Order: sequence, then structure tokens, then C-alpha cells
Amino acid sequence: MILSLIAVVLVVWTIAYRFKRRKMYKLASLIPAAKDELPLIGLAHSLSGNTEDIMASLQRFSYEAMNNDGLIKVWLGHILYFVVVNPLDLDIVLKTCLEKDDLHRFIRKIIGNGAIFAPVSIWRRRRKVLVPAFSPKIVENFVEVFSEQSVKLTERLEKQVNKGPFSLWPFVSTYTLDSVCDTAMGVKINAQENPDSPFLTCLNRILNLVCERIFHLWLQPDWLYKLFPQYTEHQECLKEMHDFIDQVIKIKRAEIKIENDSKSETDKIYDLGQYKMKTFLDLLVTLSGGNQGYTDIELREEVLTLTVAGTDTSAVGLGYVLKLLAKYPDVQEKVYQELCEVFGDSNRPLIKEDLPKLQYLERVVKESLRLFTPVPFIIRKVLNDIVLPSGRVLPAGSGVVVSIWGVHRDPKYWGPDAEHFDPDRFLPERFNLAHPCSYMPFSSGPRNCPGYQYALMSMKTALSTVLRSYKVVGEHETTAVPRIRVKIDIMMKDADGYQVALERRLPLFKA
Ligand code: HEM
Repeated sequence: MILSLIAVVLVVWTIAYRFKRRKMYKLASLIPAAKDELPLIGLAHSLSGNTEDIMASLQRFSYEAMNNDGLIKVWLGHILYFVVVNPLDLDIVLKTCLEKDDLHRFIRKIIGNGAIFAPVSIWRRRRKVLVPAFSPKIVENFVEVFSEQSVKLTERLEKQVNKGPFSLWPFVSTYTLDSVCDTAMGVKINAQENPDSPFLTCLNRILNLVCERIFHLWLQPDWLYKLFPQYTEHQECLKEMHDFIDQVIKIKRAEIKIENDSKSETDKIYDLGQYKMKTFLDLLVTLSGGNQGYTDIELREEVLTLTVAGTDTSAVGLGYVLKLLAKYPDVQEKVYQELCEVFGDSNRPLIKEDLPKLQYLERVVKESLRLFTPVPFIIRKVLNDIVLPSGRVLPAGSGVVVSIWGVHRDPKYWGPDAEHFDPDRFLPERFNLAHPCSYMPFSSGPRNCPGYQYALMSMKTALSTVLRSYKVVGEHETTAVPRIRVKIDIMMKDADGYQVALERRLPLFKA
């Protein structure tokens, strides 16, 4: 009797639920589904393996979208996602769907309402404060920091010369973390020399825990997560990181007060020129309105956001460039020739004036970011029905997966050699995008990455410094299509941890 009652309630509930969403089902039925859908669960089974399998499924969805005019639907149980690779459609999606998907709530537990994953109502104000802090004039003054940290990176790599293959990851990720902490907070955490630093350990661990939560449904409800040992670890790491940043903010506020007290009224008027050597934290305090601006919690959220958004992204980018250069020695040789032209046989550290001269290196970086883009997918919510330029409609209540990975490899926009590694496709005379959204490693639209110039400068500085001292060596590719096994781990990372070997070129740098 009770069982029949439960069955009736379930049937009535399902009918009511489907009736409420009838418009969504109708619109969705007009768009082709990804292959291998199962009843009830849809394609949830294809996202249940390890992080390499999940990445392979996401790649498959992108190819299927390419073959279906740039759009397919993917049901994950009752949740509906659209995978989009058509740049014209993406342009509209990225301009109109600004709210981030609910999956990001787990990262929000670390960085709170910092710009990257904040709800739109909070994000708008945060974005206004953040963008001027990334003006080219400010960012180019950080090159000094990148250069100093790159010399340290090169010195640390010395121990690996002629020792055979090793993983680049601990080297590049500590380089980017040290650079970000120095430029964001003015703090030298020395992760490169001290890879066991509590901040670094906690940052790495908490990002792993978040990733584990995203892909394991049983870890998602807060009440259930609290019963797992990971919860305690999560909270401990969070506390360590928050305490550290709070301490930095306290010291910074005191420094700013002393500085302001010693200034005349006219000196206090806002002028970007005076921020030349300031950190992001200084800038955020002032740009948000000084004492009337961000609270300490808001500052902590923004600083943590910069740390999380700026560290692994650039490290992943660096890892792929070095791995590709090891696979394609002819390309590496051209990079080296350019470095010889710019630096001669001097072992001086790089200065900001060198960066614009490294044109070939820039093309290599851009091509690597095209094929092995660190952020391959962006997920946004569809709050209102969106009519795409292709005439199809994304219904309200669904989610949209912007496949940067797919759009970067679509032969419609990149030609039949779309999968080839060819840095010269970025030569000004050859580079002619059919649509700006067909190349967007840093996304596009109002929520794009404000750190793109910062990232390019940091990567070029580290690469040129390392490549002047060492040749990166690995298994050569026999074709123009690089084969690198990738996994999804919040970002798209090399499944082998960026294994290369090193051979010596020049004596080490004198800073
Ligand atoms: C190769 C390196 C990098 C890549 C590939 C990258 C990529 C991205 C992408 C794809 C987004 C946009 C997500 C979306 O549209 O929803 C984003 C947002 C963001 N990135 Fe980056 N990023 C990189 C480096 C950096 C660096 C170095 C910083 C700061 C130091 C940074 C700070 C941010 C911030 C604050 C946002 C959030 C913007 C907003 O929501 O308004 N990124 N990044």
C-alpha cells in the first residue's frame, strides 16, 4: 500500500516537473544530442571515469558539436547542457550569459565572491575595480618580478641538466605562484626554494579537494561532505590560507596609513602614474575607495582570486610550450636564434624592453595556447531563452559549455591543418580570424580574463630565461600533430606532468 502511494507521488511529481519544464524540453528537442545517451541518466556515465576519460568525453562532445553546425545538447540526468563551438554563437553566449554555473560553488567556498566566480550582482562592481589594476602600464612594471623569479627558476633547473626526463610541473607552478604572490601582495613566499611552504601545500591540496568534489556526486551536498575526512582537511587548508592573507592585508593597511599620513592633500588625488611599483593589493585598496572601499574580507577574496586564477593557468601554459618545444626541435632552434639576436652572448636578466622583440616566441606561445589551452571549457547559466545567430534557441534553465578547446581546433576556422602545431599561422600576414571568438584562450566578452597581458609577459619572461640556458629535450614528433595525453583537473593538464629532459646551452644568469 505504502509502496503504491510512493509510486503514485513519484509519477505525479515527475509529470508536474516535466510540465513546468515543457518549453525547455521542446526547444531542446530541436537540437541534436551527443551520441550514446542512456535513458534517465543521459550522458552522466561518460563523465564518471578518471580525469583523462572525462577529458576524452568532453573532447568527443566538442567534435560532435563541430559536426552538428557548432552545437549539441548533453543531458546529465535531469540537467541540460549545450556544448557550443560556433564562434558566432559563442560571441552572443559570452555577452549575454554572465552568470557562472552552480558547479563553481565549490571554488567559491575558497575565494568567496572574488571576481572570477562571483554572482553577476557582486561581480559588476568588483570587475570595475579590477580592470584598471591590469592596465598595461602597471603590468609591465611587474616584468622585474617575473625576471627575478625566472632567474631563480633557471637556477633550480640546473640540478636536472643531463639527468634524463623529469616533471616540469613543480618548477613552473612554483615560479608562477611566487610571481603572483609578489605582484598581488608584495610577499615573497619563496615557494621555489621552499616547495613545502604551508601556503603552497594548502593551495595545491584544496584545489585537489575541490576537483574531487566536482566529479564525485556523493561529496557534493554540504551536509554529507562534513561526514568525510576531506572536509576537515579542506577547512584546515582554508584557515591556513585565509590567516596568511589576512595578516598580509593588516600589514598593508598599516603601511598605506603611514604613507598617506605623510602626504599632502594634492598628493592623495588618484593618479595611475604613482602606482608604478605597487602591488595589486595596494591598487585594490585605493581603486575601491581607500578606507571607505573594500572591507578586509573583500580584499582577501580578490587577492585569493588573483592567486587561484593566475597561478596554475600560466604554469599550465608554460608546461605545454616547453613540452611542445621538446617535441619540435626545429621550432625550438628558431626560438633560440631569436634569443641570441636579442641578448647576444650576454647573460643579463630580461628587461621589459626585450619582450616586444621576442616575436617568434610570442607566436609559439599563442599557438601552444590554441592547441593546449589551459582553460578548455567555460560553463555559464542560461537565465533567459537565447536566440543564437544560427537561429537555434538555448532555453532558460539550461547550462552552456563554451568549448574553447573545440573552437580552437575547428577546421572551418583554422583550415584542414587545424590540429597541426604551426606557430607561423600567427604571422601578421597569415593571421586572419574569420571571427574574433575563433581564438580565445582568455575568453571573450565582459567576463574575459583581465590577466592576459600579465600572463603573456610572465610566460615569455620565464621561457626566454630558461631557453637561453637550456635546451629542452623529449621524444620528437614525427608528424605536425602533437600527441599529448591530457586530463581535466579544473584546468586541462598534461597527464604525465610535463616530462622533459634538459641539456646545457649557456652559463647561468647573473642577477
Ligand atoms: C595562460 C594564462 C591564463 C589563461 C589561459 C586564463 C584564462 C582565463 C579565462 C578563460 C577566463 C574567463 C572565464 C570566463 O569567461 O568565464 C579567465 C578569467 C579570469 N582570469 Fe585568467 N587566465 C590566465 C591568466 C591569468 C592571470 C595571470 C591572472 C591574474 C594575475 C588572471 C586573472 C583572471 C581573473 C581575475 C578572471 C575573472 C574575470 C571575471 O570574471 O571578470 N588570469 N582567465
